Amino acid sequence: MGSQLKLSANALTVLEKRYLTKENTKVVEKPEEMFRRVAKNIANVEKEFGTDKESIKEVEEKFYELMVSLDFLPNSPTLMNAGKDLQQLAACFVLPVEDSMESIFETIKNAALIHKSGGGTGFSFSRLRPANDRVQSTGGVASGPISFMKVFNSATEVVKQGGTRRGANMAILRVDHPDILEFITAKEKGEELTNFNISIGLTEEFMDAVMDGRDYPLINPQNGKVVKRISAAKVFGMIVEAAHKNGEPGIVFLDRINDENPTPNLGEIESTNPCGEQPLLPYEACNLGSINLSNMVKEGELDFERLKKTVELSVRFLDNTLQASKYPLEKIKQMVRGNRKIGLGVMGFADCLIKLKIPYDSEKAINMAEKIMEFIQYYSKECSQKLAQDRGAFPNFADSLYSQKGIEIRNATTTTIAPTGTISIISGVSSGVEPLFAVCYKRNVLDNESLVEVHPLFEQIAKERDFYSEELMEKIAQKGSVAGVLEVPEDVQKLFVTAHEISPRRHIEIQSAFQRHTDNAVSKTVNFKSDATKEDISEVFIQSYKLKCKGVTVYRDGSRDAQVLTVGDKK
Ligand code: CDP
Repeated sequence: MGSQLKLSANALTVLEKRYLTKENTKVVEKPEEMFRRVAKNIANVEKEFGTDKESIKEVEEKFYELMVSLDFLPNSPTLMNAGKDLQQLAACFVLPVEDSMESIFETIKNAALIHKSGGGTGFSFSRLRPANDRVQSTGGVASGPISFMKVFNSATEVVKQGGTRRGANMAILRVDHPDILEFITAKEKGEELTNFNISIGLTEEFMDAVMDGRDYPLINPQNGKVVKRISAAKVFGMIVEAAHKNGEPGIVFLDRINDENPTPNLGEIESTNPCGEQPLLPYEACNLGSINLSNMVKEGELDFERLKKTVELSVRFLDNTLQASKYPLEKIKQMVRGNRKIGLGVMGFADCLIKLKIPYDSEKAINMAEKIMEFIQYYSKECSQKLAQDRGAFPNFADSLYSQKGIEIRNATTTTIAPTGTISIISGVSSGVEPLFAVCYKRNVLDNESLVEVHPLFEQIAKERDFYSEELMEKIAQKGSVAGVLEVPEDVQKLFVTAHEISPRRHIEIQSAFQRHTDNAVSKTVNFKSDATKEDISEVFIQSYKLKCKGVTVYRDGSRDAQVLTVGDKK
């Protein structure tokens, strides 16, 4: 008990910019006070579950300690908004887009409200009739999904000025939509749809057709008619080509996601949140939180006792957030409180491996990924079952797959692996389950700020093993990696392997190992060097399919003007 909060300069910059309470642009909250505000707010809702006053105080202390030790952090909106008027705590939302003007513009309005509160929104545009289709009421022609996406994009652009953070959107279009070819290349030029990530919703039928070299049908969603049949391999090739060019679109495997939809009677899952890790039903939202694995290593071993305690407390914390959160719409509240999905994941996996002396690019790393996530999954479920005994199962339980299995559980899902883009900076660890991007790196965060850092574990080892010098750090910073740097001992070179040196296959194997024990999806980008070929991208897509991932994103270095991470001096 009684951890001291240890924050890096970068973490403080991020907190001051958007997280700590301000009065007239002046920061009036210390980081410890932020964690206190959140802990109190999230513990207090237990009144509703009959927890007595004294126990609530104890729970508050535990939540405070959980965060101040940086063992676990909830997603950004919880840190920003808990205990304040806004009180909107979820990072991820999915809204429906039906084939009518009313639905489209209603959803644009709702998305704006969500962005204002720091949440991201995902949409499937697959229900919209294709461009140039007839509009009955006017006798005119339809604009099609891509035109409407531009309206969503503009609305996001306008709202982002006043919101807690810039709004992020995901657009998904099924691969059998007649406008799919236009969608694949919609972001090719780079200047359009900048507030969207786009992903192609792939079906089993399509993937089979790719594998067998067959044609597949494009279907008008309005009337179910086959518009034409085209070569699956050709469309797959176009997706690969566009992703090779600038990292978009990503892909998601819709049938696979729906095979694991815990509440199929409530509808089909058609979209994910903006970064892809959270498939949701229309009007559903999800609160995420991540355990800092780097903190779970004690004397070179994984401390499973501490991990277990952290999982239990984190699940309780996240279940409480569903109660504490205000939702922008009554419908969203109904859906969220009905399914009570939470997404507990991890950050600092790469740092954890370094402390365990396991290179990321090894069989041992895959085994460790699996062991850790299997453990988290197991105890998150155990804890959710205990919560169900005290607080009741999620209200839609009787209509869920869990009821068929006879397992009374509080939350329709418990695990998700988020990108942890900001909370990993606050915690000072590697993001999500990603490998190190560089041993020395420049990070562009929160719009236009750039931060530079030497990996703290590398600095520590370099000093311990007596090869640290300022010049060496500068030299490494130029190329980011330590591979082949003679001053660095070979075992250290292997341990500090960076994303570009890791084979794409390994990236996918790690993703797949985590996915095997995660209810929702795993956020992972396969980072390629700039000279990667289209065949390399194609292979990763196929492997992600074969290894049962739910989707994947690729990125080839230098292929976009503004990228989140850069190595060395980029002019
Ligand atoms: O680290 P942090 O909690 O800020 O977020 P993350 O793990 O990087 O992203 C989790 C989710 O938050 C994303 O998938 C989005 O749904 C949402 N998000 C957003 O709406 N806008 C952003 N600028 C970043 C994330």
